Order: sequence, then C-alpha cells, then structure tokens
Amino acid sequence: MIHIDRLERYWLIAVGIVFGGFAAALVASVLIFGVRLPSPVGRIDPQKLDQTEFATPGLTQTGANAYTLRVIAQMWRFDFGVKGAMPTVQIPVDTKLTIIATSLDVTHGFYLENHDVNVMMLPGQISQVEVMLDRPGTYHIICHEYCGPGHQGMIAAIEVTD
Ligand code: CUA
Repeated sequence: MIHIDRLERYWLIAVGIVFGGFAAALVASVLIFGVRLPSPVGRIDPQKLDQTEFATPGLTQTGANAYTLRVIAQMWRFDFGVKGAMPTVQIPVDTKLTIIATSLDVTHGFYLENHDVNVMMLPGQISQVEVMLDRPGTYHIICHEYCGPGHQGMIAAIEVTD
C-alpha cells in the first residue's frame, strides 16, 4: 500500500468533502430547485432573419395566459416591433411569457429586471427562456453584454398590467 502522510490524508478528505458539497449543491439545484439554464433552441442565419420567425418580431398570444415575445437585438436596441428610446410592451399580469431571442450583429444580453431572466443574445443562435409575470409593474430589459459605444443606452421595458 502507498504511504500517505497523516496531514496529507486530512487534506484529501477535506478536498473530498468540499467537492462532494459542490456536487450535491449542483444536483439539488437541478432536481429540487428546478434550476435550468436558458437553452439555445436552434441555429439561424443572422443575414436572413427576414425569412424566419423573426421577420415580424413582437408579442403574440399563444394561450389563455401565455404569450411569446420574439426579440432581435442589434446595435443598440431591442427590436420587438415597438419604436422609441425605450420600447415598451404591455403584457397582462399572471402571464407565462416565452422569450425567443437572437442577435443581428454582435453579442448582446437580455436581462429582465426583478425576474429570473438573464440570457445571452448571439448572432446565429436562437435563445429561449420562460418567465412567469406575476407582479404588476414596469420592468426594464437591459443589455448586459458590452456591445459597443451605444451599449449603455440599449434598454427596453415590459409593463405588466393589472
Ligand atoms: Cu447590446 Cu450591450
């Protein structure tokens, strides 16, 4: 048998406990707390968005309490069919919103204030994330990936109406 020094053995045990703890936390987050990463759901040619479901970005109702928001990010705005310095979309409260997003040019981000939504918007990739809108209010959509000199002005909003 290999000789392992006593202190070395303690360190090995301590490292094993720490790694075991991390692994257990990871498994618990998925199985118990239902944590899911926003998933890429497909590839897309950013040059040909006008021939895809992103030809008319915006909000569509898909069920009694379900909406889908298709968003294109580009330097330096979120395009979901609404104009203005801060494009805003109104959605009724208690809606399950599916956000389907892509980028026209560079990497952008989609962060929804006070909600569990934080997804990258990449040219060539379709990202999808679901969120329950259960509190009335106005929540900003913020680009959280540095995307050029207009990055800080890349903002939009979802108004959850009562
Ligand atoms: Cu788009 Cu930062």
